[in-house]
Amino acid sequence: MMLRPTRRSVVLGGLAGLTATILGWRSTRAAGPPPLARVGVMPQGREVPLSLVAAERSVTLPAFGGRAMPLMTFFEGDAFPQVVRIRRGDTLVTTLDNRLPAWAEEMSVHWHGLRIPNAEDGVPYLTQKPVPPGGTYGYRFAPPDAGTFWFHTHCNTAETLGRGLLGVLIAEGDETVPYDADVLVCLKDWRIGEDGAFLPFLTDEGAARAGSFGTVRSANGEAALRIDLPAGGDCRLRVLNVDPTRIPEIGVEGAEAAVVAIDGVAVPPFPLRSWRLGPAMRLDLVVRAPAAGREARLVDYHAPQPVTLATLSGTGDTRRTGTFQPAPLLMADLAEPDLANALPLTLTFSATATGASVAEIAGDAEAPPLGPLCVTDRSFWAINREPWPDGGHARLPPPLAVLERGRTYRLTLHNVTPHPHPIHIHGHFFRVLSSSRREIVPHWADTVLLTPKERLEVALVADNPGDWMLHCHIIEHQETGMMGFVRVM
Ligand code: C2O
Ligand code: CU
Repeated sequence: MMLRPTRRSVVLGGLAGLTATILGWRSTRAAGPPPLARVGVMPQGREVPLSLVAAERSVTLPAFGGRAMPLMTFFEGDAFPQVVRIRRGDTLVTTLDNRLPAWAEEMSVHWHGLRIPNAEDGVPYLTQKPVPPGGTYGYRFAPPDAGTFWFHTHCNTAETLGRGLLGVLIAEGDETVPYDADVLVCLKDWRIGEDGAFLPFLTDEGAARAGSFGTVRSANGEAALRIDLPAGGDCRLRVLNVDPTRIPEIGVEGAEAAVVAIDGVAVPPFPLRSWRLGPAMRLDLVVRAPAAGREARLVDYHAPQPVTLATLSGTGDTRRTGTFQPAPLLMADLAEPDLANALPLTLTFSATATGASVAEIAGDAEAPPLGPLCVTDRSFWAINREPWPDGGHARLPPPLAVLERGRTYRLTLHNVTPHPHPIHIHGHFFRVLSSSRREIVPHWADTVLLTPKERLEVALVADNPGDWMLHCHIIEHQETGMMGFVRVM
């Protein structure tokens, strides 16, 4: 067996994965992996009511060492993360109640990774009026894809996400055969100072560089997460990075592990060596659970010593003994890019020339007044040399590009900075094609990690009409200029 990831790869996840695919799945050496079966037409599901009451709540997580912290959450209770599970085909009927304290101001809920109609996308000013404190709002949509997704605000996000205002959304219906377990590992750090209070979530020093890192790391709200898995089972591990800043390099030690989906979209399973998981990115793994009484570890290699994110222990009777050949997931119903007729589009991600205050950059008297707190008066980052005019959305700039509905675009995402940027597009997936710096496992993603100085080629089928945000998901970068939108019409 050549699948066992015995050694940390020294390269980025992409190269490691590709090499391992060729080595590991011998039958697929020549022709590449067999195509995945598709999910098929969307079934008619149920209507699922969902009440989100955004409020400040005192929450005690194990990672806080027994202390209660003033988090912001969508539901009552100490669970972290808070998870909504539906089946593909279900319609979510959501009411949002904004009971955040007045200083947190207006909000909306963005459904990250969901290809839903533009009007439900939850971007203040761009797709809806923001919901004021005390206000309510209704979202209604049927997510077209099964997989691992999440939701969060799209205004003053450094503060609200920093305080935990997010939910995980799992749409079931992508499994060909059920795995032996289905567990979640949600990574999020907390910015807690020595005095036990939250540190500022947006700092100039952080925002202008790699971001302000959390001081307390956690998985599912725990500093030392332990998960029991059926011994020898092929277990699905949904790993989500909902941190605003940190980019771990995910690996599994002591067990065989394969990647089966990226950002909720199936890939032909390939052995995991390591995978850099930027903010907002998701990785669905299948792990062959250890024998009863044995342990494996989910780790972050992006540290001087690998950091254990979760300990996986085998329990009970042994489920499987044969070769590790995890079942693939069903492929989402995504339009294949028409690369032969693709139109080119280059997006350059840079620092602003001056780092000037946006007050100087965006002095447009015609623009609507700024939302009181949807504002940062710093501009450090830009896309195609244009920084988003303020940290929020009240003063909309023109789109980065107007895309013709139905056409394929070949985007060159060019990072000219010395920092990594996880670049996210709403309402669509990128087909990741190639990189100037590393080999790429072909896959779909709603968030792609641009490494320093990298040029990443991705295809985009512009098949969802509307105005769609495109931004860095290091929230401090997003809120200090690295944000724009494309218009599909
Ligand atoms: Cu998680 Cu604009 O996105
Ligand atoms: Cu960035």
